[in-house]
Order: sequence, then structure tokens, then C-alpha cells
Amino acid sequence: MRLDPFSIQYSTRPTATWQRILAAGPRVGYDDQLQAWLIAGHDNVHRVLADTGRFSNTATLFPVMPVSAAAGAVLAGLTATPVLVTADPPQHQRIRRIVRDFFPNTPSTAERRWGALVRARVDEQVAELAGRTDVDLMDVAVWLPLQVVVDVLGLPIGTRPLRAWTDQFAALVWGNPSPEQQLAAAHGAVALWQYCTNVVTGHATSGNPGRGLIGDLLAYRDGDDARLTLDEVAAIILNIFGAGWETVSAALGQALFHALREPDRWARLAHDEHYLAAHVEETLRHSPAIDGWLRLTRDEVVLDGVTIPAGARCLVLIGTAGHDPAVFPEPYVFDPGRARLSQHVAFGAGPHYCLGAALARLELTTTLRELARRLPQLTLHGGHQRGFKPSAGLRQDITLPASTGAAGSCPVAPPATPGAQP
Ligand code: HEM
Repeated sequence: MRLDPFSIQYSTRPTATWQRILAAGPRVGYDDQLQAWLIAGHDNVHRVLADTGRFSNTATLFPVMPVSAAAGAVLAGLTATPVLVTADPPQHQRIRRIVRDFFPNTPSTAERRWGALVRARVDEQVAELAGRTDVDLMDVAVWLPLQVVVDVLGLPIGTRPLRAWTDQFAALVWGNPSPEQQLAAAHGAVALWQYCTNVVTGHATSGNPGRGLIGDLLAYRDGDDARLTLDEVAAIILNIFGAGWETVSAALGQALFHALREPDRWARLAHDEHYLAAHVEETLRHSPAIDGWLRLTRDEVVLDGVTIPAGARCLVLIGTAGHDPAVFPEPYVFDPGRARLSQHVAFGAGPHYCLGAALARLELTTTLRELARRLPQLTLHGGHQRGFKPSAGLRQDITLPASTGAAGSCPVAPPATPGAQP
């Protein structure tokens, strides 16, 4: 079985590969290029993501491709304690219970806590676009969630080094960097971890817990390591920063692309709240931001009749779950009105289900609504060839050039081919 995640084909049209795997079978098989077991199909993906007893999260953020000895030596400095997405029971439940109390996870509580903050950040981004003619929508898709997660966590400095460090972290974990790039990325990843540690210890020693989630967690800790150690607080901040930015950025790119492919969709997003919510969910099903995710078998496991040995890496193909015709008929068609949409697994399943799903939906709906209202003439550039950053897990557009419709812009709408696959 072969995914070939760094090929041109996968970096332009991953859906074609998912369909090939689903149609040809088997849906569980060893990929010797990735040295990992590929897990495909809605039932298999759901089962593995939800089964923390047989599948471990400890290797979830280990690089998909082997790293050089030099990069590995630098990465030894990334000493973050396992928490949330990198932890297994019982540590996972303990930390998740604490964070959940401070992290709203329903639409109404997320709106109450973060609605005004997200709207303010969206307003800034839309105002920036409105003054221009030709724009790259990925600028909005990158900066908006970065600023939101910085606000939500209570991180104190400007966002520029954070962006570079996290890009390097993502490339190291899911990409296929050269040995030189690996070394730079390893330094970036360690710099990000040291930054989180310094911010947390700085607040703790100054007696000022700070704002956002950092403030909440330090107030809860109240100087007591039995409740939460400083290392755990820093690891939670690193974890949520990593989990909550590039994911939303990728999802926003996907949602904007689908929205702008047909002018009717764009117009509807401005005023039809039901359609807006469905558009976001259909984007998550059809084009999930995270479409591959690593797990490690704890023991030998039989899945779909295939035996996977203990201690084996499994790349869970979330993208194939959304394209499984057994659950979603005509899966390649983008149809926000389809049945069983709530069964997508773009936010995972079971004990590790995304803690930031409500925040992500708030960011996505607020951005689409405001852009569609204030830039009704926005169109993607006609000749644009879509391409994603090479990645085994994160599906983020490199660029989305568009015209705002202001005088001097380059408004050529892309051909809207119903049912065509991006
Ligand atoms: C569209 C955007 C997002 C997508 C597609 C996404 C996807 C996911 C997925 C698939 C998981 C499950 C991982 C697993 O099973 O191991 C997950 C977990 C998680 N997500 Fe998200 N996520 C998004 C946005 C966010 C945001 C905005 C935050 C917070 C600011 C966030 C924080 C987390 C955390 C902390 C976990 C780990 C939960 C745990 O292990 O208990 N995510 N996310």
C-alpha cells in the first residue's frame, strides 16, 4: 500500500489518492516508504482514533520521515512532558479534565468567551483586504488564527517568530525536509518550546499569572505541583498553540476555496446562517485540514482482518473517512446539504476529540460571514493552479490569489465544475 504524500499528485489532489485506496483496497496495509501502516475507511479510522487502549498517542508528533542524527540531537532539547495530544491514559484524562474547565467547547460558551475577540481580529483582517485589489487569501488564513490563538493563550509577544518556529515544527513533523532544513526546523521547534517555558515560568515567578489560558492554568495551579507542574503548563501551551493555529489556517483556506468556486455559495454565506454552518462542516468532511494522523500500536492488533504488530506506527487517513462512499454517497461532490454530515471525523473521535472544535468553528464561520458580507465581489484568480504544502498530515494551501472586485483588480472567476475534485 502506498500513499506517496510528498508527490506532486498528493500535493495537488489528495482526494484522488484517497479514492484509489478506498476503491482498490486493502484498507489496512504497510507503506514501506513511510514505514508505517496506513489505515483507511470511515469505520477503521473512527475505531483507531477512539481506541486509546490499543493505540497510543505518544508518537503522534514524532516526525513522519526519519530525521538526521544532527537534527535528532537538537530535538533532545524538546523535553516537554506528554500532555493532551501526546499523552496516554491516565495522564491524558487528568490533564484534559483540567484544561476542559477553562476551555469552552460548545458553540454558546465559545461565543461568550471568544466571540468579541474573534470578531475584532476578523475585522482587522477584512479591513486590510478591503483596501486592496489583488490579494492572497492565505494571508488572512494564516494571520487570523495565529492572532486568535495568541490572544486565547495569553502569549505576550509579537507573532513573527512564533510563525516561523511553528512552520518549521509542522514541516519537521509532517513534511520531508532535507537534512539542512531538518536541522533548522529542529532549532525552531526547540526555540518554540523554550519560549513557552520562559513565558510560563516568567509569570509564575513574578506572581502575576497573566491572562488567557496561561493565567487560568497558573491560578488553578496556585504554586502546587501536585495539581499541575510548571512543565505541564508549558507543555499544554505548546500543545494548544501547535494544535490550534495551522489547523484553522488550513481549514480556512479550504473553506474559502470551496466558497469561491461558485458565486451562489459566496452570496449565501453572507446571510444564511444554516448554510454557513453546513458549508463549514462539508469543508471539514470533504477537505479536512488534518487528513493524516499518527498512532502507535500498544499490542498486536487485528484490523479489517490484517494483523498489525505491537509498537507499529499507523498513519490514520482521516481524509479517507470523509470520502468513504459507505457513509457519504458521491463523496467527491461538495454538498453542504448532504445527509450524515455530523459523522465526519475531521476533529477526531473519542477521548482525544479536538478540544478546540468550538473555537475553530467560531473562527471559520465568523471569517466567512464577514468576508462574504463586506467583499461580495471577491473572486479567485482564474488561472490559479491549486497546490498544498508537501505534508503527510496537514492540508494547507500555499497560496489563494483573489481579486476583491475593486477597480484595477484582476477578476477572472475560476471555472465552476460541479462535482469536480480539487
Ligand atoms: C479546523 C481546525 C482544527 C482541526 C481540523 C483539528 C483537528 C484535531 C484532531 C483530528 C484532533 C484529534 C487528535 C487525536 O486524536 O490524537 C485534535 C485534537 C486537539 N485539538 Fe484540534 N483541530 C482544529 C482546531 C483546534 C483549535 C482551534 C484548538 C485550540 C486552540 C485545538 C486544540 C486541540 C487539542 C488541545 C487537541 C488534543 C485533545 C486531546 O488530546 O485530548 N484544535 N484536533
